[in-house]
Amino acid sequence: MRPHSSAEWLPLMLSADLPPMTAVPALMPEGTLALWRAESGTLALQADRCPHRGMRLSHGFVRGEALSCIYHGWRYGQTGRCLKIPAHPRLEPPEAIRVETHAVTESGGLIWGCLETPAGRPPTFDGLLPLRMISLSVSPERLATSELLDRREDGRMTIKLAGQDCLLLCLAQPDDSTLLFCLIAESASTDERIAASRALEACRIRLEAGETGKEISR
Ligand code: FES
Repeated sequence: MRPHSSAEWLPLMLSADLPPMTAVPALMPEGTLALWRAESGTLALQADRCPHRGMRLSHGFVRGEALSCIYHGWRYGQTGRCLKIPAHPRLEPPEAIRVETHAVTESGGLIWGCLETPAGRPPTFDGLLPLRMISLSVSPERLATSELLDRREDGRMTIKLAGQDCLLLCLAQPDDSTLLFCLIAESASTDERIAASRALEACRIRLEAGETGKEISR
């Protein structure tokens, strides 16, 4: 598995899986962040901890262009600044009340995040589109040695699913599991996408069961 640097864009989820006015936890190797999409469609990636009393902001709700904490309703903008404290409606929240905010963008049907100032744009994969994201209870190290997967010269992994050559983007998780983003040819038909998705699910079960023989994935 390719090592990550904190200035690297990492895939977080499929764009299609985050509709406007939704907040979700984004699983990064360093821990969970709050990822949300405003009504206008723009994204924010922020610390998953409310500065008030520590509630997880990924449990909050999005209204318009702001994320509200589910506990006492403090409202935060996409820059991280606190915009409103409902218990003190006449108070202009001090500038110092803010959540840490990270770089986030969309490219190729995926949402990408970066903990530090990113070096350039996210990678592009010509001719490929996201198929699905799955969570695997398999460590990245173990995945890297599996004979079910092939490896390209650039270190990325590939797999043939129901006759389709697919690219896998891997994201290590703090609990030693792995998030896998599977990309398939944009020319694949709906039936081919469904068949590949089912084959990926079968592959997940076999990987988690500890099977490694290449023949069982094809
Ligand atoms: S903990 Fe978030 S508003 Fe109180």
